[in-house]
Amino acid sequence: MRRLALILAGSGLLLAGCGSEGTVSPLPSKVVGTIPTTPSVKGDATAGKQVFTASGCGSCHTFKAAGSTGTVGPNLDEALQGKTPDFVEQSIVDPNAVIAKGFPPNVMPQTYGSQLSPKQLADLVAFLTQK
Ligand code: HEC
Repeated sequence: MRRLALILAGSGLLLAGCGSEGTVSPLPSKVVGTIPTTPSVKGDATAGKQVFTASGCGSCHTFKAAGSTGTVGPNLDEALQGKTPDFVEQSIVDPNAVIAKGFPPNVMPQTYGSQLSPKQLADLVAFLTQK
């Protein structure tokens, strides 16, 4: 009986020891410099319209702002409602990452990510997400 009491007391001490480690803070108290919250390249919607037309997006996509009427891919006026610029960019550089409902994979070219410059891509995303 005495032995059991000792063990219990011992484990109580161990638990208390663990708890006290919670006060160690691994985070630096000061952040040096600024953390970028926006992409370094800013898109220009007007330039993006040119990219859209020159890249042949309109042959597959209907998009009113570009005056295109393609029907191979989703109507972007409807499909991009409420979509974030990040989603739109991913849909262009990696079309198979998310397949639009009701449409087949591997139809939209997967080469835009390497064909378009970061600036062209940013312009295109700005054009597609402008209000
Ligand atoms: C050969 C036809 C074709 C061309 C060219 C094409 N797309 Fe697509 N696109 C598709 C198809 C099909 C889908 C639906 C399947 C998918 O999600 O990959 C799609 C999906 C998308 C989506 C996602 C829509 C959604 O509802 O999630 C975006 C955004 C998009 N395309 C933009 C573009 C842009 C911008 C270009 C030009 C740089 C382009 N597409 C060129 C066929 C095409």
